[in-house]
Amino acid sequence: APVAAVIPAAGRGVRLGPGAPKALRALNGTPMLIHAVRALAASRHVSLVIVVAPPDGAAEVKSLLDAHELPGSSTDFLVVPGGESRQESVRLGLAALPPEYGVVLVHDAARPLVPVDTVDAVIEAVRDGAPAVVPALPPADTVKEVEPAAEPGAPEPVVATPERARLRAVQTPQGFDRATLLRAHETVTDDVTDDAGMVEKLGLPVVTVPGHEEAFKVTRPLDLVLAEAVLARRRL
Ligand code: C5P
Repeated sequence: APVAAVIPAAGRGVRLGPGAPKALRALNGTPMLIHAVRALAASRHVSLVIVVAPPDGAAEVKSLLDAHELPGSSTDFLVVPGGESRQESVRLGLAALPPEYGVVLVHDAARPLVPVDTVDAVIEAVRDGAPAVVPALPPADTVKEVEPAAEPGAPEPVVATPERARLRAVQTPQGFDRATLLRAHETVTDDVTDDAGMVEKLGLPVVTVPGHEEAFKVTRPLDLVLAEAVLARRRL
């Protein structure tokens, strides 16, 4: 089945500090979104990329994609305006998905440096029959569940410490059999932070494949420093 990728890029990036929408900020001179699009188009399996732009930024994203045309790539591109939440943005992207795509990836624009081998591993696992696949890594930190405080910075009571050996931090692209992802987005209305979480709520199996350190999410200012260092190292 042909593979399409939806890239939600409509977030403001508040945690990154003031400035342009996160996906449009530059990493070594090139917008983060362009790096993310190239990372997905680098897979020879991906034949369509649907970019979900900031609600008022679809025209700007279209011209960015034209300006950074991918030499020799046979990948098609679509741009649609996004929504209020990541979930809504993904749903708007899926509404533009043509019927022939049987495998769908959802990839954060905020993970611009994901290696093509990770993308291909996710695709392969879906093609091998898994309805939902997430790249995952063991967390470096011990993770605690707390009772969140009302004011930021106030002490928070610790509720539990899940056994670290059983935890995984998950990344994107997350890969899905088309029907599974569409059904999840049609039926699950709870707030979730990833698409696989919606599939879990349907009671369907989700499996992991090994993630990659370089698929980290650019969220805070230090992540920009790290991303630019990774890019500089790749050019060597
Ligand atoms: O919020 P977070 O940093 O986890 O966002 C992950 C991805 O979801 C980013 O690529 C962001 O642009 C996207 N997003 C979106 N629409 C929103 C909020 C986030 O497309 N309303």
